[in-house]
Amino acid sequence: MSVHQEDNRKVTTHRLVEMKERGEKIAMLTAYDYSMAKLIDQAGMDVILVGDSASNVMAGNITTLPITLDQMIYHGMAVTKAVNRALVVIDMPFGSCSGNPTESLNAAIRIMKETGADALKIEGGKEIINDIKKIIDAGMPVMGHLGLMPQSINKYGTYTVRAKDDAEAKKLCEDALLLEESGCFALVLEKIPAVVGKKIASKLHIPVIGIGAGNGVDGQVLVMHDMLGITQAFSPRFLRRYANLQETIIQSVGHYVEDVKALSFPNESEQY
Ligand code: KIV
Repeated sequence: MSVHQEDNRKVTTHRLVEMKERGEKIAMLTAYDYSMAKLIDQAGMDVILVGDSASNVMAGNITTLPITLDQMIYHGMAVTKAVNRALVVIDMPFGSCSGNPTESLNAAIRIMKETGADALKIEGGKEIINDIKKIIDAGMPVMGHLGLMPQSINKYGTYTVRAKDDAEAKKLCEDALLLEESGCFALVLEKIPAVVGKKIASKLHIPVIGIGAGNGVDGQVLVMHDMLGITQAFSPRFLRRYANLQETIIQSVGHYVEDVKALSFPNESEQY
């Protein structure tokens, strides 16, 4: 258990709402595999997201679009095995929740049944509200995701800040309210002006978790590979790097290569 986290009870959707009510900020981070999820849980994370950013950081794709339902389930199974305390949320991948509520429900059931996750995250608002309602009505907790929605990158054509103009900010607020009314337990807002993030967080009763949405929201989420400095090319303004694991890993692996070539590994005590 982390030094930051005295309370080792399992985090639930209900407890996240209580955290918002008492003004305690929510920490959320992505994980995609057993070993890292175990460390992140031990560090006291509140929410672990098996994000479809796995498409980028695990599979090397340029966008999040190619990752499949089966691949998300594979990552989700590994993460849920490792986690004791954090709430585990799994992204519904591109195409699995896009306007056909029965198909969306089936995909959601597969994720929940096969991974043992606690909740799902879905990108989109009004356009897919019937899908979201059907999933929530069937007993599955849903975290919404608005603002920059990477699954819609081909529609936007750019990863720039969203909701900068009044019309888009208005639609974003309407969608956020609709998601709350429809029963979402939390909402992610990605890459929007801080003033819009703060306004939405103050209007909603459910927790609003931001990534590039300023500090007026109820919590923050980052992609693990970015905040640990495993990836270096991606450097948006909202990203704070807490480590430079790229350098540590390259140096460590380089030393191992040198030791093998120099016949200094293994030494006497490292063999049978
Ligand atoms: O897939 C992901 O990692 C996400 C976060 C950026 C919120 O959706």
